Amino acid sequence: MKKILAVIIIVVLCVTGMTACAAEIYSDGETMTISGIPENGRLIIASYDENGVLSGCDLYAPENGIVTAPDAADGIRIKAFLWDMETISPIEMTKTDTRPTVSPSPTYEPEGGKTLIAYFSWTNNTEGIANRIADITGADKYEIIPKEPYGEENNDYYNENTRAYKEQYDIEARPEIEGTVEDMEQYDVIFLGYPIWYGKPPKIIYTFLEGYDFTGKTIVPFCTSGSSGISWSELIPLAEGADWLDGKRFNTGADETEVRSWIDNLDLPEKEKAKDVGEFNFDTKTVLLNSGYEMPINGLGTYSLTGETCVNSVKAALKCGVRLIDTASMYGNEAEVGQGVREAMEEYGIKREEIFVTTKIYPGEQMANPERSIQDCIDKLNIGYVDLMLLHHPDPNDIKAYKAMEKFVAEGKIRSIGLSNWYVEELTEFLPQVDTPPALVQNEIHPYYQENDVIPFIQSKGIVVQGWYPLGGRGHTAELLGDSVISEIATAHGVSSAQVILRWNLQKGVVVIPGSSNPDHIFENTRLYDFELTDDEMARINALDRNEKHDWY
Ligand SMILES: Cc1cc2nc3c(=O)[nH]c(=O)nc-3n(C[C@H](O)[C@H](O)[C@H](O)COP(=O)(O)O)c2cc1C
Repeated sequence: MKKILAVIIIVVLCVTGMTACAAEIYSDGETMTISGIPENGRLIIASYDENGVLSGCDLYAPENGIVTAPDAADGIRIKAFLWDMETISPIEMTKTDTRPTVSPSPTYEPEGGKTLIAYFSWTNNTEGIANRIADITGADKYEIIPKEPYGEENNDYYNENTRAYKEQYDIEARPEIEGTVEDMEQYDVIFLGYPIWYGKPPKIIYTFLEGYDFTGKTIVPFCTSGSSGISWSELIPLAEGADWLDGKRFNTGADETEVRSWIDNLDLPEKEKAKDVGEFNFDTKTVLLNSGYEMPINGLGTYSLTGETCVNSVKAALKCGVRLIDTASMYGNEAEVGQGVREAMEEYGIKREEIFVTTKIYPGEQMANPERSIQDCIDKLNIGYVDLMLLHHPDPNDIKAYKAMEKFVAEGKIRSIGLSNWYVEELTEFLPQVDTPPALVQNEIHPYYQENDVIPFIQSKGIVVQGWYPLGGRGHTAELLGDSVISEIATAHGVSSAQVILRWNLQKGVVVIPGSSNPDHIFENTRLYDFELTDDEMARINALDRNEKHDWY
C-alpha cells in the first residue's frame, strides 16, 4: 500500500508537467524521500481520507534539495504539489526515478526455460495483455504481423464484404505473415494471443500455427474480445504435437494482478525441471537452484577485499570468465563490488543476467530492521536486482529477516534467498518456520573441516551447498596447500594444490568461491574443469578431515 502511495506521488509529480528540476522519490514503507527539489521549492503533501475528504496538509522545505516526509498510513490517499515560493506558482519538474530496475519474476521462467509470447493484435488490446505477460515473465515477444495490413473497413462488423469477414468464413483462408520467429526451436512454452473475430481466432493464427513445428512445446492461448469467450479447440489440430493448456479470455486493460495470478496457476512444464535442482552441470559450470535460477559453481569471494583492490579483483574475475561474485554487507565492500560489476559489464560487454551476485545481511541491527538493511545492500550494489541474498548467521530475528527477504523476492528485487553458517541443528529448527526453502546454504568447508554429515543433510533437501574458506582460511592456507596428500595429487594432474581442493569441492557438489586479489590466482582458480579426481584421490582427501574449524562460526 505504501508503495502504491509513493507511486501516486510520482505520478502526480509527473502529471504536473516540468522541466526546471529533477525529482527522485523513494519510499521505504515508513518514510518517503523526495530529492531534486530546488531551494525555493516547497513540497505540499495533502492527505485525503477514504471518502476523498481532505484530512491533512503539510508543507515541506527542502534541505539540500531533499524532503523526507512520513509515509501515509494504509487507506489514506495522498497527493503532492511542488510550488515555487518566489513566484507562487507550480514548479515544473521531471521525475527521475533511480531506484534499481525490478527484474522479472521467476514465476515460471527461470534462466534456461524459454518462453515466447506470440500474438496478433489489430487494435492493440491483445498487445496490452502480451506486454503484461512479458513484464511479469521476462519472456520474448513476437508480434504476428499480416503481410497485407487489415484496413479500417474491417471494423464494420456486419459487412459481409470485408476481408476479415470473408477470411473468417473461408475454411481455406491463410493470410500471409510478415517475417518469422527467429529460432522457434529454442522455445518450450508459447503464449499465443489473439482477438476474437466472429467467434473464433483470426485466420492468421492458423497460418502461424501451420508455419512451425510445435511438437513437444506447450501452447497457452489467451485472447481479448468484446464479450465472446476464448475459442481454441479448433486450433489444436494445427499443432497436434503440442501440449495445449486451457485458454483464458481477458478484458481489455486487465490488471497485473489478474494476469499474474493466471500465470502463477498455470501448470507449465518448467515446474518439472525441479528434478535437476542441485545437480552440477560441468559443461555449463552451473547448478539449478530450487528457486528456478541457474548459478555458477565457481566464483570469487571478496571477504577482505576493499577499495580499488576490490573493484579490480571483481573486474579481473569477470574478465577471465568468473560469473559468480560473493560479498556481504559485513565485508563493507558492496559498493566496490557493484562498481566492479558495472564497469566490467560496460568494458567487457557482459550482460547483467550473465552475472550472479550474492550478498548477506548481518545479525543484530541489520536483522532487527531487515527491510532497511536489505534495501541498503541493493542500493550499495546498485546493479538492479540481487541474485542471491543470505542471512549471514543465525540471530534472534532471523525468521523476521528471512520473511523480509521473501518479500523482496516477491517484488523482484532479489531472485533467490538462503542462509550462511547454518548447520544441521539450526536448519532443523529453522526450515519448518519458513515458506520458501533456502536456495543455498554457505558454510565453512575445506579438507580439514569437511562437514561430511552436514553437506548430505542440506543437499537431501534440494538446497545447494557452498563453501567459504575453501583453501583453509586466514593463517591456514599455507598448511593446507602444502599438505603432502594434496600436493601429490596436484603433481599427478599437473595442477596446483588450490585447484585440487577446489575440484574436490566441486566433485562433492559444493560451490566454491575462493577469494583472491591476484589476477593470476583468480584465473588459476577458474581452471577446474580440465581434470578429474579419481575415487581414490577423493577418498584420500576425505581422509584428511580433522573437524578443525578455522573460524568461530
Ligand atoms: C472483425 C472483427 C470481428 C470481431 N468479432 C468479435 C466477436 O465475435 N466477439 C467479440 O466478443 N468481439 C469481437 N470483436 C472485438 C474484438 O475481439 C476485441 O475488440 C478485441 O479486444 C480486439 O483485440 P485487438 O485490439 O488485439 O485486435 C471483433 C472485432 C473485429 C475487428
